[in-house]
Amino acid sequence: MLIILNIFATNLIPIKNMCGIVGYTGFQDAYEVIINGLRRLEYRGYDSAGIVLDKEHSSFQFAKTKGKVDDLAAISENFKGKFNIGMGHTRWATHGVPSNTNAHPHLSNNKKIALIHNGIIENYDTIKTMLAEKGYTFQSETDTEVLVNLIEYFMNKNPEIDFPTAVRYALNEVHGAYAITVMHDDFPGILVVGRLGSPLAIGLGENEYFIASDASPFVEFTKEAVYLEEGHMATISLEKGVDIRTITENEKIIPEIQELKLSLEQIEKGGYEHFMLKEIFEQPKSIQDTLRGRLLVNEGIIKMAGIWDNLEKINQAKRIIIIACGTSWHAGLIGEYLIEEFARIPVEVEYASEFRYRNPIITDKDIVIAISQSGETADTMAALKLAKEKGAFIYGICNVVDSSIARITDAGSYTHAGPEIGVASTKAFTAQLAILSLIALKLGKHNGNLSNQEFMKLITELDHLLQKVEQVLQSTHEIVKEMAKDFVDVQNFLYLGRGYNFPTALEGALKLKEISYIHAEGYPAAEMKHGPIALIDENMPIVIIAPKQGHYDKIVSNVQEIKARKGKIIALVNKGDVQVSSMADYVIEFPETSECFSPILASVPLQLLAYYVAVYRGANVDQPRNLAKSVTVE
Ligand code: AGP
Ligand code: GLU
Repeated sequence: MLIILNIFATNLIPIKNMCGIVGYTGFQDAYEVIINGLRRLEYRGYDSAGIVLDKEHSSFQFAKTKGKVDDLAAISENFKGKFNIGMGHTRWATHGVPSNTNAHPHLSNNKKIALIHNGIIENYDTIKTMLAEKGYTFQSETDTEVLVNLIEYFMNKNPEIDFPTAVRYALNEVHGAYAITVMHDDFPGILVVGRLGSPLAIGLGENEYFIASDASPFVEFTKEAVYLEEGHMATISLEKGVDIRTITENEKIIPEIQELKLSLEQIEKGGYEHFMLKEIFEQPKSIQDTLRGRLLVNEGIIKMAGIWDNLEKINQAKRIIIIACGTSWHAGLIGEYLIEEFARIPVEVEYASEFRYRNPIITDKDIVIAISQSGETADTMAALKLAKEKGAFIYGICNVVDSSIARITDAGSYTHAGPEIGVASTKAFTAQLAILSLIALKLGKHNGNLSNQEFMKLITELDHLLQKVEQVLQSTHEIVKEMAKDFVDVQNFLYLGRGYNFPTALEGALKLKEISYIHAEGYPAAEMKHGPIALIDENMPIVIIAPKQGHYDKIVSNVQEIKARKGKIIALVNKGDVQVSSMADYVIEFPETSECFSPILASVPLQLLAYYVAVYRGANVDQPRNLAKSVTVE
């Protein structure tokens, strides 16, 4: 008998969101272990939750709901004490709105296979079409439901293969990022897990095994764990233990058992001291998730449904107005440079709060792009309503799926940066820049302002950016950590940049003031002589962003002006720089890239600088005073 419990939780508006997996097989009550485990993963943020349990001679029992783990517990209490194997999920929506139907687990068409998934299946569309042609139907909008049916498809097609082999076949067909756990109703003692890109740990107890996105759900039961490696899968059963194989070759792997030494709190933060630091270090992955399935360098295309479907409309626009607040507004300014340079469409960038109160001129020929991490910012929301009333076409760039702003827009692109917990935005900002780069390049290519050759060069460079972000993290972390000690007692900071890196300077200054409470200002470097230069003396640290591509000679003159007034220069330069570096008191090097992408690389050490200065000053980095992650008041 199949029990489906669907209760709609109405009172939940996700603000900081995320996702997690918990699985269990052993002698304990699986329901308790899983529900408590999901509670442990709540810190990751999420919008829906689900659980599926099984035993011999019975069909899957499952429940799922939009909302919190408590809502799930409320509708599934009757499962308590009846099962010894099962799995649970907290979803952070990427494909399809947070809803009861889109919540995991997802079942295959024959209801025999249940699957939970964290991540994104990049080629789900192609597989969905193939399966639909073969008669498969889909209940949800998720990419996940495609994968579970692909497993069923392989089992039907090859009746001789066993369940884990079918999972392996299916995983060999999908691209993207995933951590999955799968159960088959005809094999009630087995959990199959796999991972590519998203984390998964297996806890090894005495006659019991745990699965989780991190060790926090099982650290109270066992200190021994195996962290599944990229491209590996495991078949877990009490009878045969843990059998780990490579997904591509089915090669057997001898697992490396780790002893867990971290506290619960440390595990939640992935071993980092703060969520902010974790999120700074997540950027190679979050940018990759933003570009995933959209930037197809081998095919020489950018594939973005929201833009694709509205290309003509956007390209014919008289102007684009970008509306946002705070960090998202800074991303918008860089978006202006990008879109004007590559698509040659005039762009204005507005603070949402100013725009809405000044009776702006706006017509149905205008395109409005709203940028918001949370998708809940009240000023941005109100400004969009106004623009909509006046007939503008509204495009959204949000991180939180189905957030209020995402819902009000006519089309849009999610940043897919994953939940951001630290109040100071870091990975959401660089993901916004990645999306804006895609939009500008796509428009430019379409309207002929970008030649094919230039387009190919830029998308190849964008594709290489991930490794460069990783390099910047590795090469600057210790240097910045050390130099930050010198600025603990400073009262003021100045950040200067030109062109694309003027907004980078604004964002660097905002990061520092938000979390360290040091007064900081960002300026276009050339504006310095029109006022801020009066502030410069030997006590004033000045961050100069001076990559080789981008008005370098002009910046050299600005640095000389500062040097003459004894300001302390912190120079962000490309590797091998001589001129600016020779005048600087502190040098932070980052790899060369096209000028338009340099804000992504330069922002990373600036985030680290703000972070370490704040940490040394003893500030609450993740929850700075007076600030909220989602500003839902006007
Ligand atoms: C970022 O560090 C800030 N906390 C803040 O400026 C933020 O960017 C702003 O409130 C806008 O938020 P949103 O992107 O969620 O709309
Ligand atoms: N892409 C899947 C979905 O949208 C999984 C999201 C997650 O990581 O929770 O349902």
